[in-house]
Amino acid sequence: MADASTLAALRAAAFAAMDNAYAPYSKFRVGAALLTTDGQIVTGCNVENAAYPAGTCAERAAVGAAVVRGLRAFTHVVVATEASTPTPPCGMCRQVLHEFAPGCVVLSVTRGGAEAEWPLADLLPYAFEPSSLRDA
Ligand code: THU
Repeated sequence: MADASTLAALRAAAFAAMDNAYAPYSKFRVGAALLTTDGQIVTGCNVENAAYPAGTCAERAAVGAAVVRGLRAFTHVVVATEASTPTPPCGMCRQVLHEFAPGCVVLSVTRGGAEAEWPLADLLPYAFEPSSLRDA
């Protein structure tokens, strides 16, 4: 379990990433911060596009940023928004997080100070995963 100061740094990193979100269409800014098993923090934000389906969520941007740095193991992901209630990750992001960190904890935080926490395994039970391919 991450200590309080690490979690505070992770929250701050997620909000800083949210501040850079490019969300002119939805106006729903999201930041994500991953904590790697070796204590590094990697962030992402949502990046929308005029061709709407080309947009990317914050969590998947963070996973991509981590993987390109050779970081593939995460213990926590913090999702930061300006919503009134903490938002859970979308289904596609749950799947992408599961690929690298099926045991991670998702902490969702809002500017207003509301928080919710879930094990990823509760958000995506019976996931399709790398081992699922072996049965094909
Ligand atoms: N979004 C995320 O960044 N993460 C999620 O888990 C849910 C949704 C973004 C996508 C889009 O830019 C905006 O929020 C509204 O759906």
